[in-house]
Amino acid sequence: MKDSLLQSLERLRAEFSGQLADASDEAKLLEVKTEYLGKKGRLTEVLKEMGRLSSEDRPTVGAKANEVKEFIDAQIKAALEKSKSAAIESELAKDVFDITLPGRPEVLGHLHPVTQILNLSRDLFERLGFATHTGPEIEDDYHSFEALNIPANHPARDLQDTFYLKGKNWLLRPHTSTVQIRVMEKQKPPLRMIAPGTVYRSDSDVTHTPMFHQIEGLWVDEGVTFADLKGVLSLFVQGLFGESVEVRFRPSFFPFTEPSAELDMSCFSCKRQGCNLCKGTGWIEVLGCGMVDPEVFKFVGYDAEKVQGFAFGIGMERLAMLKFGITDLRLFFENDIRFLKQF
Ligand code: PHE
Repeated sequence: MKDSLLQSLERLRAEFSGQLADASDEAKLLEVKTEYLGKKGRLTEVLKEMGRLSSEDRPTVGAKANEVKEFIDAQIKAALEKSKSAAIESELAKDVFDITLPGRPEVLGHLHPVTQILNLSRDLFERLGFATHTGPEIEDDYHSFEALNIPANHPARDLQDTFYLKGKNWLLRPHTSTVQIRVMEKQKPPLRMIAPGTVYRSDSDVTHTPMFHQIEGLWVDEGVTFADLKGVLSLFVQGLFGESVEVRFRPSFFPFTEPSAELDMSCFSCKRQGCNLCKGTGWIEVLGCGMVDPEVFKFVGYDAEKVQGFAFGIGMERLAMLKFGITDLRLFFENDIRFLKQF
């Protein structure tokens, strides 16, 4: 009995080895495994016979049976590993991956042309010691008009086609001059500030959009003169368009500055010969400015006998159009990537 069992076990091992050599893939290997080690497997069948052995013979046969079981287990495991890596090797050999292909590059965007000009302008003013302030885009009548010396029913209100909200007291600010008032209310002079931001007017054509951007500027101190205004704004314009650009100041009107002026720069495109860009005049209008009207100082409690100041407001889209040679302002806000990519 004992000997025949030992023989069976040896035979089992030999047959298993033969079958293993023939098993070509994972599925076959698993089949072979169940054939020998499964619940109704061949080794299991042999082990059942062991019950009939004498207690003396049992350990010898048991040890042998264990040895064969471990052998089969280990062989199957090794063969499975081998077949797995062989599968990977053969996939790779098929050339489905070209590991030498370059990766997909990360597509990087860039700042909107108007933002670029706004940042550039801000840098120029910060270098001259102007601190940046912001204010709300939804404003009240007082900060938009009243405190800027534009009383109700004054014809100067017609200069701006304003978006009103909920009656006549709340509106989308039509200019950043509102921030002048808000900062002066909080801060005593001397003051040197800019206020970049979004403004709104009910206006739409090739050079106007209902929403656009301005930078407001204000310098208040004892003894600030129109010469300071000229110096600062000339440096700004030349910083943006080059040192060879000339500036001139044309009398104008704003209710909150007196005297008021428009700053023109010499046309950088034709060098004042006259071209399409400057409409044949040799000059391009850039911004509005002036000395702060003493009436405005009264509203914020500044002593107009002691301090003087100048203010200016610059349209960013207009500067960006000039700087980049764009003729239709609306293109800035259509978000056509083919357009924006060019700047
Ligand atoms: N607020 C004026 C506008 O929007 C510009 C301006 C600002 C003019 C400050 C003079 C001084 O048109």
